[in-house]
Amino acid sequence: MKEIYFEQIDSTNLYGKLHLGELPDKTVIYAKNQTEGRGRLSRRWVDLGGDNLFLSFILKPSNSFSERYSNLSQYLSVILCKVLESYNVMPEIKWPNDVLINGKKIAGILAETVTKGDQLKGIVLGIGVNLNADAGALKLVTDKQITALNLETARFIDVANFRKLLCTTFFNDYEKFMSQGFAMLHDYYSSHACFLDKEVTIQIFDKKLNGIAKNITNKGELQLFDGKDNLIINIGDILS
Ligand code: BTN
Repeated sequence: MKEIYFEQIDSTNLYGKLHLGELPDKTVIYAKNQTEGRGRLSRRWVDLGGDNLFLSFILKPSNSFSERYSNLSQYLSVILCKVLESYNVMPEIKWPNDVLINGKKIAGILAETVTKGDQLKGIVLGIGVNLNADAGALKLVTDKQITALNLETARFIDVANFRKLLCTTFFNDYEKFMSQGFAMLHDYYSSHACFLDKEVTIQIFDKKLNGIAKNITNKGELQLFDGKDNLIINIGDILS
């Protein structure tokens, strides 16, 4: 596993996308600070300071698309939950890949593909984890419910230890996940899901869908009952 470290960078995901051609499979790019962090749905990922995690995995599994790739961000959310559990907190997952503690978001995951024509060149799988933040500063950054691991454990979190554990846990099961897919995660993922049997709103591009979240399929899709039909959703985000 090759590692690339920056004291400061615009975005580890952007660096990964721009340099994907020259980077080997399983490269890990991480930074102390990020000035232009990229988030899902064209949002920004705010830098809460140098004691937080900003990291991207470069993955080059094969030249062709596979169903597995769309589940990689869910794989990473499960890995993150396992790492967080070792810090004695109880993480939950909000479909598809948000990780929460006590109902507050602690991390964000962004998978970006790099293609040339119809060829897949690779995937940049980025993750930001709030490890050490000031409760007051969090409120200034956003009105959304967010938290950091130091606030949940009442102790300072060593970023290097956390990063090493995350990378080791990620690569330990990576080949198994690539061969077995989401089915391998299904039970753990479902038992950590905070949205099942609840009324949810799903944002799919500029459209919103309401219903009861019934189930997670063996492919990681969300089964939503809209009052009439069971819909299978494979794109979008649960808003609430
Ligand atoms: C989200 O919107 O929830 C996803 C946020 C992903 C943020 C991480 S931080 C490291 C990597 N580099 C980026 O620019 N974004 C991801």
